[in-house]
Amino acid sequence: MWEELKLHIEQLAGKAQKRTLVKTESDGCFIHMDGRHLFNLSSNNYLGLANDERLIHASIEATRTYGVGATASRLVVGNHPLYEQAEEALIRWKGCEAALIINSGYTANVGILSALAGRDTLIFSDKWNHASIVDGALLSRAEVKRYRHADMDHLEMLLKKAERHKQKIIVTDTIFSMDGDVAPLRDLVMLKETYGAMLIVDEAHASGVYGENGEGMAHELQLAQHIDVHMGTCSKALGAYGAYVAGKRVVIDYFINTMRPFIFTTALPPSVLGTICTAIEIVQQERSLRHHLHALSDYFRTHLQHAGFDIGESTTHIVPIIVGDNERALAFSAQLRERGIAAVAIRPPTVPEGTARLRFSLMATMTKEQLDWAIAEITAVGKEMGLIV
Ligand SMILES: Cc1ncc(COP(=O)(O)O)c(C=O)c1O
Repeated sequence: MWEELKLHIEQLAGKAQKRTLVKTESDGCFIHMDGRHLFNLSSNNYLGLANDERLIHASIEATRTYGVGATASRLVVGNHPLYEQAEEALIRWKGCEAALIINSGYTANVGILSALAGRDTLIFSDKWNHASIVDGALLSRAEVKRYRHADMDHLEMLLKKAERHKQKIIVTDTIFSMDGDVAPLRDLVMLKETYGAMLIVDEAHASGVYGENGEGMAHELQLAQHIDVHMGTCSKALGAYGAYVAGKRVVIDYFINTMRPFIFTTALPPSVLGTICTAIEIVQQERSLRHHLHALSDYFRTHLQHAGFDIGESTTHIVPIIVGDNERALAFSAQLRERGIAAVAIRPPTVPEGTARLRFSLMATMTKEQLDWAIAEITAVGKEMGLIV
């Protein structure tokens, strides 16, 4: 048995797909990694809030007031008062009837789909959706129809063919995590309405970053009212941990009663809830952070594209440079590390075979001067490696 596991790992290594853990310590826009101090172009701390003094203070205060652990699941005795405060803040922020904090984005997606879908459900899922959506759909035992990435003709064809009596759910990331492109939400709403489907959106990478008050992409595009279930994370732009689901009261009550990853797990530590409450306030107030992040992202994308890199369809703060080959992606990342930049190589199965890449992500606390330096280094390595001329 152990031999088989060893062989599996060796096979991964043979395809340059073996993963190892590296000790990291984040320090604003920089990161200590493997004994080096690197400019961090790899984190999801998009607004720089993970090190914000106000969040640190909120976390400490919550621990002092309510202790370290939640001691039980929320339906037993773990529902400490900060949950109500955070969920009320979420309702006001997202403009929904009700909201529920879930322990992580991964468990939220697994929980949402496995609670809402069953054997008689058809789930229509974008091929590039996050792994947690893929896993939730599998666990639900629904029939899963994966439509080609952002291909609305393909989705419509699948919807047309679907048995009329079956419940239909369309689910999509709003910003795709490894590509930084945006789902065609307007068309998805149209299709959902035409074919009587439910629409679930995952705002993991848009929460805090898009929308006038950072509510997410659905709000940015003024489509929020047409979406049935809004999911988002507090672990990325909000700088904390955990996730939320927002929507109609009846949907949230249903989740409280049926969502197994909500019911059968210990509640989040009070410190996390305290941090979430403060982060929700900050993302609404500090529009300038968002505006600066968008300006930096436009600048970064434009320069990489002009240099000749393939950045796919990115229009956001997540910018891939698609390299193709796993080993080249690893070499690109290693060369940048030598020059002081953390840009992690993303390989299959996280992305499709033959599309290995470096995934760059920006932070609102970076400066244009820092990006100028990073663009020059990335371009120099790209030329050395023959990725661009
Ligand atoms: C689109 C998407 N959904 C969900 C998740 C999971 O969120 P969390 O890290 O909070 O578990 C991620 C995480 O990377 C993600 O990119």
